[in-house]
Amino acid sequence: MGEKSKILVIGGTGNMGRFIVEASVKAGHPTFVLVRESNFTDPVKGKLVENFKNLGVTLLSGDIQDYENLLKAIKLVDVVISAVGRSDNQYNIIAAMKEAGNIKRFVPSEFGMNVDAGHPIEPAKSGYALKAKIRRAIEAAGIPYTYISCNCSFGFFLSTLAQPGATDLPREKIMMFGDGQHQGIFNKEEDIATYTIRAVVDPRAMNKTLYLRPPNNFYSFNELVSLWEKKIGKTLEKIYATEDQIIQMIEDASSMEDKVMLVVNYSIFMKGEQTHFDIDPSSGVDSSVLYPDVDYATVDKFLDQFV
Ligand SMILES: NC(=O)c1ccc[n+]([C@@H]2O[C@H](COP(=O)([O-])OP(=O)(O)OC[C@H]3O[C@@H](n4cnc5c(N)ncnc54)[C@H](OP(=O)(O)O)[C@@H]3O)[C@@H](O)[C@H]2O)c1
Repeated sequence: MGEKSKILVIGGTGNMGRFIVEASVKAGHPTFVLVRESNFTDPVKGKLVENFKNLGVTLLSGDIQDYENLLKAIKLVDVVISAVGRSDNQYNIIAAMKEAGNIKRFVPSEFGMNVDAGHPIEPAKSGYALKAKIRRAIEAAGIPYTYISCNCSFGFFLSTLAQPGATDLPREKIMMFGDGQHQGIFNKEEDIATYTIRAVVDPRAMNKTLYLRPPNNFYSFNELVSLWEKKIGKTLEKIYATEDQIIQMIEDASSMEDKVMLVVNYSIFMKGEQTHFDIDPSSGVDSSVLYPDVDYATVDKFLDQFV
């Protein structure tokens, strides 16, 4: 693969995908985005698409359900990155890449925790199983891949300190997850995208999981809360939830968003699922080892804007 590769992003108008498109352009790769027709006229997403056009992105109108069109798009590029949402079918992408035979690297839509490890509970368990099944299909098709395990994204966690149902950071009370000792790992969306784009043209990340582990962004829930308290100059009232209480809350939660938020918190802060393992060098690589020069955003600085 040459220094610059033609990169197709599928799901480029999504929360994660938009950053990947921008990082690809910034790195100088000829960038293509498969855009569903409705986006061109959508008042919000239309602006995003317009911005892509201004950045020099090649916009390809299409849907992953339209196989022939997808195949045509895939034949134009070297690398495919999928950032479609949680439940969207990626088997068509795998089949089209297999038929096209030209793809040098594929990144499926994961951008979370290692779906081959850990002990998630429902509803995360089914989500993990779906993503793991996609991994097996990619491997069976013999398509070179990189899986991105980016742990917690800033936007999803830090804007509410992982409090289900909240729309802002807590200023009075906070729910604590167990003893709050296990650390999670945090990454800003722009940095997730930068590392992803570095990895897709890096032979060291081929057929490996790239674990995003920026050393200054490891925080236990206790550490996160004290950092926030220090910033606002106030001690929050803490409500400690036990494991059994969290499991009950997951069952009782009325919205899927709250269920997911609780389950993810349970896995990270009560079970330590992001940090309780060392990376196996036969199947994984660490972003901070491969790309120590990336000037990543820190949790500490990011929280300042909310004070
Ligand atoms: N680690 C974390 O904290 C974290 C947080 C959030 C998400 N994630 C992960 O990141 C990944 C992306 O999630 P997201 O929240 O960015 O998703 P999202 O905002 O729902 O975006 C999904 C994207 O996929 C596109 N898409 C959906 N169906 C399609 C189809 N049939 N054909 C073509 N495009 C289609 C959507 O296009 P339209 O614009 O046309 O709808 C949109 O661009 C997921 O795997 C998710 O689990 C991780």
